[in-house]
Amino acid sequence: MADKKAQLVIEGAAPVELPILTGTVGPDVIDVRGLGATGHFTFDPGFMATASCESKITYIDGDKGILLHRGYPIEQLAEKSDYLETCYLLLNGELPNAEQKAQFVSTVKNHTMVHEQLKSFFNGFRRDAHPMAVMCGVVGALSAFYHDSLDINNPQHREISAVRLVAKMPTLAAMVYKYSMGQPMMYPRNDLSYAENFLHMMFNTPCEIKPISPTLAKAMDRIFILHADHEQNASTSTVRLAGSSGANPFACIAAGIAALWGPAHGGANEAVLTMLDEIGDVSNIDKFIAKAKDKNDPFKLMGFGHRVYKNRDPRATVMKQTCDEVLRELGIKNDPQLELAMRLEEIALTDPYFIERSLYPNVDFYSGIILKAIGIPTSMFTVIFALARTVGWISHWKEMLSSPYKIGRPRQLYTGYEARDIVKLEDRK
Ligand code: CMC
Repeated sequence: MADKKAQLVIEGAAPVELPILTGTVGPDVIDVRGLGATGHFTFDPGFMATASCESKITYIDGDKGILLHRGYPIEQLAEKSDYLETCYLLLNGELPNAEQKAQFVSTVKNHTMVHEQLKSFFNGFRRDAHPMAVMCGVVGALSAFYHDSLDINNPQHREISAVRLVAKMPTLAAMVYKYSMGQPMMYPRNDLSYAENFLHMMFNTPCEIKPISPTLAKAMDRIFILHADHEQNASTSTVRLAGSSGANPFACIAAGIAALWGPAHGGANEAVLTMLDEIGDVSNIDKFIAKAKDKNDPFKLMGFGHRVYKNRDPRATVMKQTCDEVLRELGIKNDPQLELAMRLEEIALTDPYFIERSLYPNVDFYSGIILKAIGIPTSMFTVIFALARTVGWISHWKEMLSSPYKIGRPRQLYTGYEARDIVKLEDRK
């Protein structure tokens, strides 16, 4: 909706009127699409002041610490919903009624197995490969198996690809883990819930099937909910950009996984544990805090700060509570790494450097600790983030394809050479 207008005055030219668009909540945005006609573009590396698209899925108010999915606060979803219900909400716009939920859960369960031949892909990877390297490969490879649903212009195909991705990600993630361990891969069990089934495929073996702890399954489900979507972050924007060229959904999600891998994004929960290992002991904390504050040192406190949340990360609040529940259930009291994490949290929350810059613990700080306590190896943390975020990525991909869209093609401020002629090799200095 465009009511107000902004005026841009470019020296030596007539003023340009730019419409101001208003969303349901959140700041207004200046529509600069018409600016290209004046021979000018906007310059905004890192998208610090640019809305790349219109979306109805997720709203974040970073200053107030608010995260809404389709209008529902994340705290309520974590408390009163479950992951598959949240998936339905993100994909379809509304929470399901009982019948719709049963139907959706059953459809997802129908698609939990992966093509048997996909297993042979794993043998091409070294067993010590990083699980995210294998995930990028095997998720991209899904496009070679599910040709029957690759027509991106067909809404039914988009739907079935979305369900396939949500259903198969836990299976693939667990296969990646089992391959790294040299253990037999476990088939999914459709009598279990989504989170229970994931823990079953991760930790059970054909010779020993142990029951899954309800507390750990609940914690896992919460981790999935809290990572399900986060509006236009780096990986989601990557999925949208890849999708805007008409690439198939499996290829787009593989691109999202690659973008998520970096330590400034999804790799942060792994980086938290690596950092705790590096710090080693409570007595070294001061040294590392000093490093984090030193402008000449690239070291940052992993799990602290956020591009959008400049007050608190609402997901971190729920995660902290789940963290306490899991540690209680597992009877973990005197874990030195945990003690270190809690001390670090305390110092960072009281140190003026962190307060002035609003560097609060983010969701990855606590999720890393929970995953470690559950017994998930550090290198699998980002894989779990990717598993949970797949529904967000695919919801954004579907949203983009459901209305008119253009291929994403940013402009640039060129500061390289002007045109010049090639000098013959023998004459070059
Ligand atoms: N430790 C120490 N100093 C920090 C940290 C940190 N973790 N994060 C930011 N700063 C400082 C930064 O040096 C800068 O200081 P100054 O104003 O003196 O130059 C100031 O705080 C502002 O930081 P910024 O880098 O401009 O903020 P950003 O919005 O570009 O970066 C971030 C956000 C998440 C990349 C960054 O805070 C960071 O690298 N954090 C650690 C990695 C991490 O935990 N990432 C997970 C984010 S949550 C998962 C997700 O949603 O993807």
